[in-house]
Amino acid sequence: GWTMVNIAEESIEEVRRQVGTKRAICALSGGVDSAVAGALVQRAIGSQLTCVFVDHGLLRKGEAEQVEKDFVAATGVNLHVVDAQERFLTALDGVTDPETKRKIIGREFIRVFEEAAREVVGTSDGEVEFLVQGTLYPDVVESGGGTGAANIKSHHNVGGLPEDLQFTLVEPLRTLFKDEVRALGEQLGLPAEIVWRQPFPGPGLGIRIIGAVTRERLDILREADAIAREELTRAGLDREIWQFPVVLLADVRSVGVQGDGRTYGHPVVLRPVTSEDAMTADWARLPYDVLSKISTRITNEVREINRVVVDITSKPPGTIEWE
Ligand code: XMP
Repeated sequence: GWTMVNIAEESIEEVRRQVGTKRAICALSGGVDSAVAGALVQRAIGSQLTCVFVDHGLLRKGEAEQVEKDFVAATGVNLHVVDAQERFLTALDGVTDPETKRKIIGREFIRVFEEAAREVVGTSDGEVEFLVQGTLYPDVVESGGGTGAANIKSHHNVGGLPEDLQFTLVEPLRTLFKDEVRALGEQLGLPAEIVWRQPFPGPGLGIRIIGAVTRERLDILREADAIAREELTRAGLDREIWQFPVVLLADVRSVGVQGDGRTYGHPVVLRPVTSEDAMTADWARLPYDVLSKISTRITNEVREINRVVVDITSKPPGTIEWE
């Protein structure tokens, strides 16, 4: 029968047949799909693969390190890291409209990835001909089953790469569902933090700051988000909760009191949801003691936040994200 060991071995063989002695490149997003695809292709073709990680500065606390250290340690993959934080901040300067943020983040991602791909091509003996993508079966079905021209839209809602950078796609996960991808990731020895990561949008924290994105606001949100995630994990609820966005209402201030002083800080919104597929969702009834712990810790540990509220809207009519 089909076991994960079979699936892994079959897929590794297939990638070897497809890529041969050529080179491949893979964009790591920090998410489970690209990580498992990258790890699998690494097993198949080793140093013929280069993974590119664009650090756009919109990831959550510890996620960049998980890619740069833990993923590399677990797989031995060649990793090319681009620190593009400044570039993304500059491009997003003063932008508040959600769709404009998405467009800018998608566009910059493509540009940075393209530059990195040229560098990888330039420093290698062989041309890079293959682009690895973590496309899953549901994505294949949704897009009508066609593969062809290379694109890296799965996490960024953007179009294809420029004409002069044409790749052939390698999509080793295209027959698998999410739970199978996770099992495969475990089979390949990836860290649990990566394998069991909840879905996270490509534009990252950029669309969880309501208002313009600044470095300071990102730092505030990153701290609050880390506390919420830590307490969810501590309560053993990671696998029950589909996603747990923490949203910073950066342009809202409210009066509070702390110690013997009045504060005038920002609220954060906790948005824990349960869902099967993100198409619909229900607000998660987190235990009061978990909510209470999160609220106390955030207001104690993140100076700029003086109020924590919970979003109790289902989808529809609300969406999971606030932008
Ligand atoms: P909504 O907010 O529409 O989100 O209920 C549904 C799912 O999609 C994720 N999401 C995104 N993922 N790029 C992504 O890669 C995006 O621009 C984006 N917007 C929303 C969201 O986190 C949820 O899982």
